[in-house]
Amino acid sequence: MTPAAIRIDDLLFRWRPDAAPAVCLRGLQVDAGKSLFLHGPSGAGKSTLLNLLGGVLLPERGRIEVLGQVLGDLPAARRDAFRADHLGFIFQQFNLLPWLSALENVLLPCRFSRRRAQRAGDPVAEARRLLAALDLAAPVHDAPAAELSVGQQQRVAAARALIGRPEIVIADEPTSALDAARQDAFIDLLLAEAKAVASTVVFVSHDQRLAAHFDASFALAGELPA
Ligand SMILES: Nc1ncnc2c1ncn2[C@@H]1O[C@H](COP(=O)(O)OP(=O)(O)OP(=O)(O)O)[C@@H](O)[C@H]1O
Ligand SMILES: [Mg+2]
Repeated sequence: MTPAAIRIDDLLFRWRPDAAPAVCLRGLQVDAGKSLFLHGPSGAGKSTLLNLLGGVLLPERGRIEVLGQVLGDLPAARRDAFRADHLGFIFQQFNLLPWLSALENVLLPCRFSRRRAQRAGDPVAEARRLLAALDLAAPVHDAPAAELSVGQQQRVAAARALIGRPEIVIADEPTSALDAARQDAFIDLLLAEAKAVASTVVFVSHDQRLAAHFDASFALAGELPA
């Protein structure tokens, strides 16, 4: 049996005690090395669920197990270290540091995680390899992130998520839509790089057209009654 990379049971999260649940789901499992497409309308709780998977937020009820570790069992500092070591995040707004170059942004996880740095081998060479694999030419590697197009920023964010071979790569689709052909090409590059190192991928989008790229999909229904 393939071990589960992510296992969620009976999850409930509210932003405030009097608010409707932002995420409420009975169960979800993602097997190691597989890709999951997570979809649902705006406000359905997709980004909230990704923050729960990263241990940035903790659920009011339920259990989230990542790589066999129950996140709620770890104190906050250990959760941060666990996230830095094992999870690569592509944020919805990318969260690149604008004054750093593309290359320096890709190298950031190696500064926060010794494990990621070791697994990258020669981090600078690996960062350049990933940027090139994601179709970014050498001059772009040294440009400040602030000067990149949205599509280029997305690929820099992907290279940053992939460096050091984290077991899980989590991607929150940017709201500012790229054209369909570019988005398809981006997903194919991301999945190819993840597959080459057997990483598990969770990719979020409201665009169900993209589901065909992934091994499985899961729908978040949206706001539920309190
Ligand atoms: N920081 C926050 N504080 C309070 N409520 C929040 C916060 N972030 C999100 N919410 C609420 O939680 C719900 C789910 O939001 P979330 O951002 O997870 O949706 P989403 O599915 O990612 O939407 P989108 O497709 O627009 O990115 C929404 O009702 C939103 O208003
Ligand atoms: Mg979102």
